[in-house]
Amino acid sequence: MVKASAPGKCILFGEHAVVYGQPAVACSINQRIIVELEEETKFDSWRLDGAILNLSKHPHIRFLRDNLWPEGQNPPLKIRIRGTLPPASGLGSSAALSVALVAALQQLRQEELNPGIAGSLSHQAEAFAQGGRASPIDTTTSALGGFIVLSDTIERSLNHIGERTLQNQDDSTTWQLHSFESKIPEDTYLVIGNTGIRGSTSKQVSKVAALLSEEPERQVEIEAIGSIARKGIKALRTGNMELVGKAMTENHIVLRSLGVSSPELERLIKAAAPSSLGVKLTGSGGGGCMIALTKDPERTVGAIEMEGGRAFISPFNTPGVRIETLSSQDNSRQ
Ligand code: PMV
Repeated sequence: MVKASAPGKCILFGEHAVVYGQPAVACSINQRIIVELEEETKFDSWRLDGAILNLSKHPHIRFLRDNLWPEGQNPPLKIRIRGTLPPASGLGSSAALSVALVAALQQLRQEELNPGIAGSLSHQAEAFAQGGRASPIDTTTSALGGFIVLSDTIERSLNHIGERTLQNQDDSTTWQLHSFESKIPEDTYLVIGNTGIRGSTSKQVSKVAALLSEEPERQVEIEAIGSIARKGIKALRTGNMELVGKAMTENHIVLRSLGVSSPELERLIKAAAPSSLGVKLTGSGGGGCMIALTKDPERTVGAIEMEGGRAFISPFNTPGVRIETLSSQDNSRQ
């Protein structure tokens, strides 16, 4: 048996504005997806958690299988998925699943773990699963861990780690990827609060597009998010947590004004604010999750849960994809 895991992510700054070329910053969180793989000896197909793998329900798994082996030459496998990352909540669970699966497949094929390849292959798998469109922020953050900045242009002050291009039928999109080192004090945490409501990324993106086409002057808000994101990155790099928190709250105010918050998100944000340095929605909004930057994480979790949200604490700089060692329990299951 082989076992690999990969983290989820949250967006700290820049969601929505990134669609219009502004920078966005994501960081890995300590909630992970774990993938276990074993060669299947009883059946000749791939099985997922004990049942025959339904390829139309898991197009990204299909993409990875078909890309890693020549047609029809893949060995039968048993896949088991576990983890603590809630699905469909904007925390990158499908990206983390793809990244962990590529790492486990690399190990099964006796190849060395290659987070760069795991990230780029998973990005292609996500794009395949989402009808040709997916930004590489979730897959890159999950593969590499830490802080990842996505932008239309190369940001000179950051560590440029590469570019990704997606070719569609009639156009192509290129993103520049960057990382940076941060000086975050160890006593500062992220608390992630989940409304439990599924937001639809495409619906929220269309809502902002409609607003900008009806009121083109609102483009200044997109640019405002871009400058807040740049300010936020600078504060993260120098470890000025008060400034990071302030920038997060400012970013949220602009997102709310663009219409992508929701009453449920606002309730959790209001509850978390008194014990936090900064609060905002994360991801596409309309539901999904909010984040709080805090030095008193237990109090923030309590406040969010009092308002009916589910909350968990994550430190910063959690590792990207990794191979997990097998426990004695795993060995006895083999
Ligand atoms: O909720 P998520 O993690 O899918 O975040 C979407 C981020 C957007 O900027 C709203 C859309 C995008 O493609 O970047």
